[in-house]
Amino acid sequence: MQVLSPPEQIDFAHNKELLNRYRFIEYETLRILAAWLPATADMDWKLAMGRLLWEDAQHVQLLYQRLREIQTPAFRPPGDAALERLMAESIHAPSAADLLAGLFRVIKPALAATYRWHSEQTFANPDAPTLYAFKHILIDEEAHLAWAKEALADHPQGEWEAYIAGLLAAAGGVSGRGERQRHAGVSLGAPPPTPPASRAQFETPRTAARDDRFNLVDRNAGQRIQTIDQETQRRMDFESYSQEMLAAETVALIIHLSPDMPWAFTYDSARHCYDETRHCKLGIEWLAHHGHNYIEVPQNTRIYAWRSQYDAATQYCLLTMGNETHAFPRRHEQMAGYAETGDRLSAQYVSYDMADERQHVVFGHKWLPELMAKNGIDRPVDEFIEETVALWEREYSSGALPIPAVVGG
Ligand SMILES: [Fe+2]
Ligand SMILES: [Fe+2]
Repeated sequence: MQVLSPPEQIDFAHNKELLNRYRFIEYETLRILAAWLPATADMDWKLAMGRLLWEDAQHVQLLYQRLREIQTPAFRPPGDAALERLMAESIHAPSAADLLAGLFRVIKPALAATYRWHSEQTFANPDAPTLYAFKHILIDEEAHLAWAKEALADHPQGEWEAYIAGLLAAAGGVSGRGERQRHAGVSLGAPPPTPPASRAQFETPRTAARDDRFNLVDRNAGQRIQTIDQETQRRMDFESYSQEMLAAETVALIIHLSPDMPWAFTYDSARHCYDETRHCKLGIEWLAHHGHNYIEVPQNTRIYAWRSQYDAATQYCLLTMGNETHAFPRRHEQMAGYAETGDRLSAQYVSYDMADERQHVVFGHKWLPELMAKNGIDRPVDEFIEETVALWEREYSSGALPIPAVVGG
């Protein structure tokens, strides 16, 4: 057996410190992407953000699984004000392009480089489970960097990216050992940069942004479709899928509004959000297969605006106990119709959709009690669900979608 002598510069205590920093960066990145998903207008970016935030949730999960083996509690702040400031500032980007540039052209490249450095420096056999996590995380991170390179090809490096780079340097880089290390452990990181004038304080998005290719109408709202021929019905069902970004946006908003929920909730919700972006894409693809352009399908963004007026628990209940629980009868009708006409593609798409939706209803039952508690709702869960479903029928199924006038602009 060959005994290797790697550099092994990272000892057990240092390893923990570093893993806490990575877990923090991955988790905050996921939360920032969720916050910005409804506020981002570009549909291609929105579709990608659902996947990106779910993949970052996988990274948090891998790091969490390792951290819980070496420290209690497994989730803890990095204990570095400069690093916390970097992630706290990253959300206040002037635009979606700047936001993504800060995350994917500054923070993530540094994170990926640090994962590679760490892989070289840790004790290879004793710390093998950490190496396993890094190896798998890096596959995604490389793909994220490649995605951003292409998506942001037309976006010049600007003052926002420079600001984020300055904040990262002030934290001593991802490892915290950059400048500060060179000063013999004394906290002499680069001085924190001044925010550029373009910095825009992030505000919770209560409207769903769409690029100007789309028409936004209130057509049919949540109304039940009247009896029409099967072909038209089928097309309308998939047009409706192509609008499921609205569900992804609501789940993203719920993630943003619920920073104090347990990690397992954020993990499930990241998947829920990603699934809805996949359902949206499935609608887009079906329409394309049948010679239709989804851009021509009006986006009923009023649904998001209507839901977003409520607290996170009510929104979650409207979605999981209203829309998702009540979607199955129609889905079964669709499946029967497709079986009759031998429409394999539609049947396959709806089968996968139903598998996801069953999980979403399970998530709803699993998390509503705690989400209610976090939102100060102390009524019995069954009573709350019953009342919220009645609200859903009154305001959504009726097509009314009432939105109160915005107070104070
Ligand atoms: Fe869905
Ligand atoms: Fe769903």
